[in-house]
Amino acid sequence: MEQFLNLISKEMASAFEAAGYDSALGRVTVSNRPDLCEYQCNGAMAGAKRYKKAPFMIAGDVAKALAEKNDGAGSAVFSKVEVVKPGFLNLDLKEGFVQSYLQQMAGDDRLGMPLPQKPEQIIIDYGGPNVAKPLHVGHLRSAVIGEAVKRIARFHGENVIGDIHLGDWGLQMGLVITELKKRQPDLPYFDPAYTGEYPAQAPFTVSELEEIYPFASAKSKKDPAYYAEAMDNTRRLQDGERGLYALWQKIVAVSVADMKHNYENLNVSFDLWNGEASVHPVIPGMVEDMKRSGVAYESQGALVIDVSKESDSKEIPPCIVLKSDGASLYTTTDLATIKERVEKYAPDRIIYITDKRQELHFTQVFRAAAKSGLVPETTKLIHIGFGTMNGKDGKPFKTREGGVMRLETLIADIDAEMLSKISTNPEIPGEEAEATSRQVALAALKYGDLSNQASKDYIFDIDKFTSFEGDTGPYILYTIVRMRSILQRYAAQAGAKDPAALLVGDPAGQVEKKLMMDIAGFNAMMEGAYADCAPHRVCAYIYQLSNDFNTFYHATRILTEQDPAQKESWIALLHLTERVLTRCIDVLGFSAPARM
Ligand code: ARG
Repeated sequence: MEQFLNLISKEMASAFEAAGYDSALGRVTVSNRPDLCEYQCNGAMAGAKRYKKAPFMIAGDVAKALAEKNDGAGSAVFSKVEVVKPGFLNLDLKEGFVQSYLQQMAGDDRLGMPLPQKPEQIIIDYGGPNVAKPLHVGHLRSAVIGEAVKRIARFHGENVIGDIHLGDWGLQMGLVITELKKRQPDLPYFDPAYTGEYPAQAPFTVSELEEIYPFASAKSKKDPAYYAEAMDNTRRLQDGERGLYALWQKIVAVSVADMKHNYENLNVSFDLWNGEASVHPVIPGMVEDMKRSGVAYESQGALVIDVSKESDSKEIPPCIVLKSDGASLYTTTDLATIKERVEKYAPDRIIYITDKRQELHFTQVFRAAAKSGLVPETTKLIHIGFGTMNGKDGKPFKTREGGVMRLETLIADIDAEMLSKISTNPEIPGEEAEATSRQVALAALKYGDLSNQASKDYIFDIDKFTSFEGDTGPYILYTIVRMRSILQRYAAQAGAKDPAALLVGDPAGQVEKKLMMDIAGFNAMMEGAYADCAPHRVCAYIYQLSNDFNTFYHATRILTEQDPAQKESWIALLHLTERVLTRCIDVLGFSAPARM
């Protein structure tokens, strides 16, 4: 369906044209003085110079052209066209115009959201956890934002692949291997002469693994010999030494099984579980090509690509492809991953979601990829850098002891807070209360994050996030639950009809009309959220929609309405509002409980 505002602008553009002015001046926007009018057009001011005419006169001509439309019956779109000095056109919409737009939306599975002519192939690289290290809150934002960006793009009709891009190939693997060898030297993995099969069972649990990594990491910082051994084990692993590779596979398997469970709890899922290691075989050929074409050259023993541009306002250092000892780096695996993704999936876009402190890294990688011809010019490489999640003190979120907080702990805290609230509702029995708390807590957590523009830092405020009032996830869910409850009570009434088959009528008052105009803005909002990879726009939209619905709800006795046609129209409107909200929270990656 054509966007609501575009339809309105078209009506205005045709009036500018009919009055002898450029139709491009007829752009209509939502009013910034809602006390005066619903929409406005400032085109007369813009045209004054060109037509050497007072804006007030131009606006008057346009208003006249609108009044003369339809053989003098006037515009089918505007109920009010007011010319205000110096030359504003203040506009209100005809009830029937709004009503018919909503009725069309109601009849469409996609709520008026058109499908693209040709879907784009999009890869979203998000999550990015590191094997053998526990997930911490820093990984939360990538997962939550990435999942929403993925779902928005999917709803938009694109072909989207989500790839977790595991950190599974760096020094942390060498450290874990080194420490395992100290603790269990007799394992067959460490015996180079061993040729038999390795045990199916991993020689450690995930908790042991998580204890080992920080232990080994701390030790390597104090003990140079230990560090050297870890470096050596990393190299031997990357060179494919049979035992170490088999042990590495065990580490990955145990770690990934645990991650899957964690991401499931976050309602986050990936199509690909590739990692840095998966592209290891791609590196030698890629490096060869870069050397042969001359884009990469040796500098102080390392292999680098110049990526600076004259237009740069600050210096962008060369992109290092291989270290002087020949080892690959984070950049190397990212370049190789681009090569592999282009060859396998021919993406139109690759979108990366990481902490914004990685911005320089991605600038270097994207430029090096373009310069060395790893990506066709038509492929867009996009980095969405997010800000830090801070505690109430404004500093990066920490545990009470000052350490990095594990994601599991954070989730458990917010679950507990939610449970204490939901348990106060005597109608909800224990088991349901627990499941509901988890569901609402997830919405609290995700909405608390997503409602901020991604690039900004935000404060993790558990009291605010879990509140049932204000700009929060629980408030949105509460609104949806309220709608569903009305629909259920309606269904139980004598003579109730299927709400999907009912017609949305003309708005009975201004409050209802406002709600209807919000709903009509759905497809434009979604388009914008997709174009800018901006889930916060969906949040801002549903907050407004929920507020306007609740105002309508408090002003209207829906279920006791005596006029059946009026009641049915309200039920149809409520049902449509519920569909729009449900669609929106689905793209944000959470859902509503039956009651709360
Ligand atoms: N593992 C990385 C980290 O923890 C994030 C990976 C992001 N994706 C990428 N293609 N570099 O910082």
